[in-house]
Amino acid sequence: MLEKIQETASFLKSKMHTCPETAIILGTGLGSLAGEITEKYEINYTDIPNFPVSTVEGHKGKLIFGRLGGKDIMAMQGRFHFYEGYTMQQVTFPVRVMRELGIRTLFVSNASGGTNPSFAIGDLMIITDHINFFPEHPLRGRNIDYGPRFPDMSEAYDRELIARADNIAAELGITVRHGIYLGTQGPTFETPAEYRMFRAMGADAVGMSTVPEVIVANHCGIRVFGMSVITDLGVEGKIVEVSHEEVQKAADEAQPRMTAIMRELINRA
Ligand code: HPA
Repeated sequence: MLEKIQETASFLKSKMHTCPETAIILGTGLGSLAGEITEKYEINYTDIPNFPVSTVEGHKGKLIFGRLGGKDIMAMQGRFHFYEGYTMQQVTFPVRVMRELGIRTLFVSNASGGTNPSFAIGDLMIITDHINFFPEHPLRGRNIDYGPRFPDMSEAYDRELIARADNIAAELGITVRHGIYLGTQGPTFETPAEYRMFRAMGADAVGMSTVPEVIVANHCGIRVFGMSVITDLGVEGKIVEVSHEEVQKAADEAQPRMTAIMRELINRA
């Protein structure tokens, strides 16, 4: 495993002419940020040794290196979801490669269903903490020496970055929520009873990604900032049929707001 990570990292290093310390996983709601990266050079996942290949519609699989807001950055366009059939090692493989490349801060985004009754479709939620509800743990198995066997998770989402994002949102006049993201395997959206259970467990939003990558980033000592677009509601009395298209539509509408905050946060980070 470590050998594969290092092999991939040295392949990428041989292609890179920058030294980014910032990485972005361009999840739902952040796709358009890719268009703002300058001096970019892109590498398709299919051309990267040991990289899994992304399959979901609307996710183009490539790594983008370049500059954003005066910073060298590396961006993942397309992530690997557990529901696609990847192992947790595959889902989180790019984060470990990031660690080898010297990444210090990771920005992530996703779409989620709001379980907090005060949320509305289109809200942006800064992730303050998470609940790992995946059936398999990404750190299960022999410990890689990037971090301890029993990693601390008391501040999985960096408090300083959250405070900075709050200030930026206020300056830009964009309303943001704070909340706990519960990651579950999907690919089904939740039944009303499941939404109710997740709410009772303390979740403000539920989605099918992010948690594995954030766990591995924490293990590697990479600080994390995450944001979620609330694309549908798992709130009693407000539950309606959900489709991928509706999720996409709500995310597209929220995208300019999410992008504005992230762009500025990356700039100042
Ligand atoms: N549940 C799980 N994942 C999601 C949802 C949801 O309601 N909305 C967007 N991703």
